[in-house]
Amino acid sequence: MSKTLIVANWKMNPKSFKDAAKLFEMVEKNVKLSKDAEVVVCPPFLWLRELRSKKLSLGAQNCHFQMSGAFTGEVSSLMLTDAKVEYVILGHSERRQMGETDAQINLKVKTALKDGLKPILCIGEKEDEEINLVLERQITQALEKITASQLEQVAIAYEPVWAIGTGKACSADNALSATLFIRRILTKLYSRFLAEKTPILYGGSVSSENCAQYLDRSGMNGLLVGGASLDADQFVKIINTVSKR
Ligand code: PGA
Repeated sequence: MSKTLIVANWKMNPKSFKDAAKLFEMVEKNVKLSKDAEVVVCPPFLWLRELRSKKLSLGAQNCHFQMSGAFTGEVSSLMLTDAKVEYVILGHSERRQMGETDAQINLKVKTALKDGLKPILCIGEKEDEEINLVLERQITQALEKITASQLEQVAIAYEPVWAIGTGKACSADNALSATLFIRRILTKLYSRFLAEKTPILYGGSVSSENCAQYLDRSGMNGLLVGGASLDADQFVKIINTVSKR
């Protein structure tokens, strides 16, 4: 079984490096990590080289699919590995909202893997969408031409768009249905073995109160935490709750 993965997506927060360093330090100081759990902090690009820890891994929130060139405002996966970043969140719904397509996400997954990053691929339906259709399309397209051995470096984060930043977290039962469906798609694309092995995370209004159910009752292997990861006490509570499981 893979490690429990707890990912902090800071998004465009906090407001200053001073606050970022303080938050990072507080988390590092107070987490009690079991050897079966890994915490990945994903700050804005600017601070990736500044925040270093032996206990916490680092991830970026996006990367470009080209190695270098005339892409104003972008950061390549190669630049991230050069900065000793290990993970990258790809296909987050907020980026899809800004126009990122499944085809672009597929290019990013391919480039990230080639350059040695571990992608955390985000998928999820909007409130008015048919969940299974959306998940199947997003997974199939994002993983096109990704080999079985490459898949071993990928984690999938199920984040229903309606649950992100709204306080309306997905029920444990619905999250379980999503987990089973995602594993079914992965079985179809790869094998039952790989489908079982791929870490599936839940994201969307995760809090210290609701976090345990996704690991205990939804078959998830970890969490992608937005808002609650900006509060050191809350985030440490989440880590300490789920890393014992
Ligand atoms: P949230 O965000 O925890 O604030 O809902 C999760 C995410 O966007 O990854």
